[in-house]
Amino acid sequence: MSEQKKLAPETLAAQALGWIDPTTKAIVPPLHLSSTYVRDEDNQYRSGRGYIRADNPSFDQAEALLTALECGTGSLLFGSGMAAATAVFLALKPGDHVLAPRVMYWSLRNWLANAARGWGLDVEFIAMEDPAALRAAVRPGKTKLIWIETPANPLWTITDIAAAAEAAHSAGARLAVDSTAATPVLTRPLALGADVVMHSGTKYLNGHSDLAAGTLTVGRDDDYWQRLKSIRAQHGGMLGSFEAWLLLRGMRTLYLRVRQACASAQTLAERFSKHPKISAVLYPGLPGFPGHEVAARQMASGFGGMMSIRVSDGEAAAIKTAARVQVWKRATSLGGVESLMEHRASVEGAGTPAPPDLLRLSVGVEAVDDLYADLDQALRAA
Ligand SMILES: Cc1ncc(COP(=O)(O)O)c(C=O)c1O
Repeated sequence: MSEQKKLAPETLAAQALGWIDPTTKAIVPPLHLSSTYVRDEDNQYRSGRGYIRADNPSFDQAEALLTALECGTGSLLFGSGMAAATAVFLALKPGDHVLAPRVMYWSLRNWLANAARGWGLDVEFIAMEDPAALRAAVRPGKTKLIWIETPANPLWTITDIAAAAEAAHSAGARLAVDSTAATPVLTRPLALGADVVMHSGTKYLNGHSDLAAGTLTVGRDDDYWQRLKSIRAQHGGMLGSFEAWLLLRGMRTLYLRVRQACASAQTLAERFSKHPKISAVLYPGLPGFPGHEVAARQMASGFGGMMSIRVSDGEAAAIKTAARVQVWKRATSLGGVESLMEHRASVEGAGTPAPPDLLRLSVGVEAVDDLYADLDQALRAA
């Protein structure tokens, strides 16, 4: 392990930490499907494994790799990003005050505004990208968790992770970061002071649009970490064995995929900025984008593969543009090798921060000229 610590994250990912099966010398971990494990004759469980809902050897390598990439102390795989994210809140107590951003993944925002409040959390949504608003909103001793997402769906708003960590810790709260769009390739929130990192593994970690998964990584083995583990075991929101195996396979190419998506997204953002049918490009890699400087500080080697464009001729033209693309696929989700596009206000409905003329783009790994030409023809035809 000490030698592995010196290897670059790309190497750790490509080799899934260099794992070799001690019995067969295989370089790919086996798929463990057993739901139960035999007790020792003296009634103990010395293997540490008892039942599939609490634990699964098919998780080990993916969790260990993610922990290494995020510089954490432990990771947990969940059955979806939502299962992982909601566990972060369910590990609190009714009555606890929680701060969350106004711009964030819409399904979690809805869960916080409805179910979490119904359960008793005191959830307050603020302009998280404004450090002064955050400092003013924290209630020392009362605020237990600050949730941020950076870059945040669907406007790609940037929050300063180090500043948010300072605000959280000064009030005795934890900072949790939805780092789905940044991935560990670009940002390591724990190294910037965060306490918990969450990913929808459905997106970049897996990268092939063929499974749902969620992950949590923490920087400390404490009572909060133990509560997260119990929530996964008791609520049963764990990942399946095959999905864990696929997730690890996807993570082997994480660095290649994310770097290509970043390079293509930067090129497209710059070209779209000059397009006559686009009134605005929302991409943290553009120098004029609010939050660009913070993003440049906390995102290494790229600004991600996600951006949004606003279509000059309004909502109907945006929807027509999405109808006319062929290389881009008209579908929700993000972070796969194939480029996706969607009219975000249609997905999010009431309460969305997405203007009606906005198309959300997930840039994949196709030839960037094909992506540009396809969207260009769709914009001009619409
Ligand atoms: C930023 C972000 N966080 C969380 C989620 C939820 O993840 P899942 O769909 O895997 O439950 C998503 C899904 O789109 C997302 O984009």
